[in-house]
Amino acid sequence: MTTSTRGDVKDITLATRGKDRIEWAAKDMPVLRIIRERFAKDMPLKGVRMSGCLHITTETANLAITLKAGGADLVLCASNPLSTQDDVAAALVHEYGVPTFAIKGEDKETYYRHINTVLDHKPNMTMDDGCDLVSTIHTARTELIPAIIGGMEETTTGVIRLRSMERDGVLKFPVLAVNESDTKHMFDNRYGTGQSVIDAILRSTNILLAGRTIVVSGYGWCGRGLASRAHGMGANVIITEVDPTHALEAIMDGYRVMPGIEAAALGDIFVTVTGNVNVIDRQHLERMKDGAIIANAGHFNDEINIPELEKLATTRRRVRDFVDEYTYADGRHIHLLAEGRLVNLSAAEGHPASVMDMSFANQALGSEYMLAHAQELQPRVYTLPSALDKEIARLKLRAMGVRIDTLTPEQDKYLNSWESGT
Ligand SMILES: NC(=O)c1ccc[n+]([C@@H]2O[C@H](COP(=O)([O-])OP(=O)(O)OC[C@H]3O[C@@H](n4cnc5c(N)ncnc54)[C@H](O)[C@@H]3O)[C@@H](O)[C@H]2O)c1
Repeated sequence: MTTSTRGDVKDITLATRGKDRIEWAAKDMPVLRIIRERFAKDMPLKGVRMSGCLHITTETANLAITLKAGGADLVLCASNPLSTQDDVAAALVHEYGVPTFAIKGEDKETYYRHINTVLDHKPNMTMDDGCDLVSTIHTARTELIPAIIGGMEETTTGVIRLRSMERDGVLKFPVLAVNESDTKHMFDNRYGTGQSVIDAILRSTNILLAGRTIVVSGYGWCGRGLASRAHGMGANVIITEVDPTHALEAIMDGYRVMPGIEAAALGDIFVTVTGNVNVIDRQHLERMKDGAIIANAGHFNDEINIPELEKLATTRRRVRDFVDEYTYADGRHIHLLAEGRLVNLSAAEGHPASVMDMSFANQALGSEYMLAHAQELQPRVYTLPSALDKEIARLKLRAMGVRIDTLTPEQDKYLNSWESGT
C-alpha cells in the first residue's frame, strides 16, 4: 500500500497498466474529449478546489483528466469499497497528478477516512456518486459549508437523498442532479447497467444464461436495461415491482410480473436494482432453490438482507472470486455475488466507456454551469438545463457519424402555434 498526501492506493507500481487502460477507455469517450479540448483553452474551473467521491474506474479517470484540464484542483476517493480499480487509482496519482484515496476491498473505517481526507481539501465544489460527501459535510464537517459553491450528484439513490434533505430544509448548498439528465439515466442506467450487470454475473459465475429464470427486482431505468439484455441472451425474465405503472410497462414489454415471494421459489438468478432496502428479505431467502444466485446492482448493499442470509446459513465459503456460497441446514446452497455490493462495479468493470462518455460530459458541463451560475442558485436540487443535455446528445451523435433532420421553418411555426387544425 502507498500512503501519502498524494494519495492512498494499493500499489503504485500498477500505474503503467492503469494508464494503458485509461487511454483505452478514452478512445470511446469522444464527447468528453471535445469538452476537454475546450476546457484546456478556456480553463473554466481555474483554481476551483474539487473533492470527488466516485467509482475509481478508467472512465472516472478520464473525467478527472478533463476537470484538471479545465483548471480544477481535484482530489478523489472511492464511492464504494469494492468498486476501485487499483491500477487506475495508481495511475491517477503517479501519471496524472490527481491525489486519489481508494483501495479495492477497503474496510468501512478506511472508506470513511478516505472521505474525510478528500474533504480536508476544503472543496469549493463536491462531486458525489451516492451522496456520501454531501451527507458527511452536513452531519460531521459543517465547517466546510461556507466555502462550498455547490455539488454534483451522479446517481438515483444520491438524488433521492438530496431531495429528502431539500424537503427537510437542511440542504445548505445547491446540487446539480446529473442523474436526471436524459443523456445520463436513459443511457447509463439502462444500457450501461443492463450490459455490465450481465458481464459481472458471467465473469463471476460463467453460467449459461439461456434457459435460466432471472428475477429482476425494480423496473426503473436500470431494471429495464437489465431485463432486456437478459432476455436477449435467452433468459426467462420475471419482474417484481411496487409501482403499478412500471409493473404494467414490464407486462407490456413481455415479462412475467409477480410478487417477490412467488418469484423467490422460481428464480435461478436474482438481481435487485431498486434503491430500496431488504427487497430480498428472509422470507424470500427461505424459499429459494438450491443453487440460486443473488446479486445487487442498486447503489447500497442493503437491498439483500445479508444478516438474515447469514443467520439462515450454517456455513459460508468463497467458491470463486466474488462468489460466496451459503449452505442452509437442509443442504441448499445460495450464492451471493460481490458481498451484495454493486455487482457490475465489483465483479466487472462497471459501465463501458461509451456510455460514461455522456454521464461524465454532464458532470464536466454541469460543474462549469454551476460555477457560472453560483450567484443565482439556491440551496436546492437542480437539473442541468435541457439545452446542455441536448448538446451532449448532439455531440454524441456527431461522434457516432449519425446525422438527423432539423425542423423546417414551417414545422417549427406549426409546433409553436395553436391556431391550425383540420
Ligand atoms: N449498478 C450501477 O452501475 C448503477 C447505475 C445507475 C444507478 N444505480 C442505482 O440503481 C438503483 C436503481 O436506479 P434506477 O435509476 O433504476 O431507479 P428508478 O427509480 O428508475 O427505478 C427503481 C425501481 O425500483 C422499484 N422499487 C422500489 N422498491 C421496490 C421493491 N421493494 N420491490 C420491487 N421494486 C421496487 C421502483 O418502483 C422503481 O420502478 C439506485 O440505487 C441507483 O442509484 C446503479
